[in-house]
Amino acid sequence: MTTKSRLNICITCTASTADGQTDPRHGKQLFDRMQEICNERDLPFDLHPAECLTNCKSGCSVALSGAGKWGYVYGNVDPQSMIDDLCDLAIRYADSEQGIVAWRERPETLRRNVIARIPPLD
Ligand code: FES
Repeated sequence: MTTKSRLNICITCTASTADGQTDPRHGKQLFDRMQEICNERDLPFDLHPAECLTNCKSGCSVALSGAGKWGYVYGNVDPQSMIDDLCDLAIRYADSEQGIVAWRERPETLRRNVIARIPPLD
């Protein structure tokens, strides 16, 4: 059985550029927009909501993970302007062998937003 890689979006995040919380929260807005894209297209990754990735001061936060792949946490994802870039990154991640998307191949808006990367399980 082949498992798809996963895009986890924190649905409880407040955007780092926001003055305050919104209802729904910025992270939920980001998740809902990505859900719409996933419903319209056959994408090579699964979408999952997460409640806090412990990166709250640099929200909106997302995490990419997959079997045998390096995991990546990204922060400061703008729910309005970066949705297409996030989708592009998740596709490149899903298509990669070990979860490593070269810096120059990442969407420009996300290149500097890596918070952490986590080694894969053997
Ligand atoms: S609320 Fe999103 S990382 Fe904590």
